[in-house]
Amino acid sequence: MPTRIGILTGGGDCPGLNAVIRAVARRSFERGHEMVAVREGWRGLVDGLVSPLGPENVSGILPRGGTIIGTSRTNPYKLEGAVERVLATFESERLDALVAIGGEDTLGVAARLFAEHSFPVVGVPKTIDNDLSATDYTFGFDTAVTICTEAIDRLHTTAESHNRVMVVEVMGRHTGWIAVMSGIAGGADVILIPEQPVSIEDACEEIGRRHARGKDFSIVVVSEGYELPGDDEAEVERDQFGHVRLSERGVGERVAAEIEARTGFETRVTVLGHVQRGGSPTARDRVLATRFGLKAADLVEEGRFGRMAALQGDAIVDVSLEEATRELKTVPRDWYDVARVFFG
Ligand code: F6P
Repeated sequence: MPTRIGILTGGGDCPGLNAVIRAVARRSFERGHEMVAVREGWRGLVDGLVSPLGPENVSGILPRGGTIIGTSRTNPYKLEGAVERVLATFESERLDALVAIGGEDTLGVAARLFAEHSFPVVGVPKTIDNDLSATDYTFGFDTAVTICTEAIDRLHTTAESHNRVMVVEVMGRHTGWIAVMSGIAGGADVILIPEQPVSIEDACEEIGRRHARGKDFSIVVVSEGYELPGDDEAEVERDQFGHVRLSERGVGERVAAEIEARTGFETRVTVLGHVQRGGSPTARDRVLATRFGLKAADLVEEGRFGRMAALQGDAIVDVSLEEATRELKTVPRDWYDVARVFFG
């Protein structure tokens, strides 16, 4: 009897989701299985938003950004009776397995459903933030870094023309992977990330030293999760996974104002925002997403639930969902030290 495999994408979208959907589906069709789209992340199982996913639906989607099956930040563990509804929809739709594509939140739900209900789920790690443990890289990250690097290159020419300091705020939640990698690639003069706090005073000193050497413009990359003195998240509204909207804190604007006040150099800010998550995936992300998708289909075929596809070195392996979601993967000191050589 053919297997019915559900697939969902949860959390913030990112380039490469469709490439995973295509890869899971192509390999599963080849094996005679049926695919079912679970729409809008976990909300799809909570509210019964499911529809067939046929070969025609996955044709031509490899280069497309976003997700053809929609996404949401719904957390069934935060809604009354929702976990029961997830299990009931899975049952009534006669699903045999679920492929959950997401970051720490979506996969955290998958890990818990597996642990508490032996739910037949396998995970695929996605996030532009690259903050998931147990995988060296997530897809979407390379595209985000590429977009930020291009923006930094563009800001260089205008900064130079006007003798300005340009502050670029990038995403990344509570880790500075996007800031560090795009900062290294774009030749940033200072990079501010949540993990390795270089104070605003240090940042201004670096800029001052640089200008004293005769350079009259600077590029500062700041991660949205960088904290300035006095930041307090206690009163801020949170989503169902307990996250605050970091963009609301306006760290880029505040860093720019501090730099201008402390150094006297004319300063402008650019907040890259959701442009970092939009559009086509890079070739690298398409390949990684495709390899993850094939691995997920294989895990389903082998009945190895509670596992997640992961990249270690250049090999696609599988790790437990529990291990993958246990802690955030922060930027280690040695990566920041690479970037720091070029400060000032
Ligand atoms: O996790 C991906 C991410 O883009 C973060 O970098 C960012 O903080 C958050 O999602 C933004 O979320 P939203 O799309 O809900 O504004």
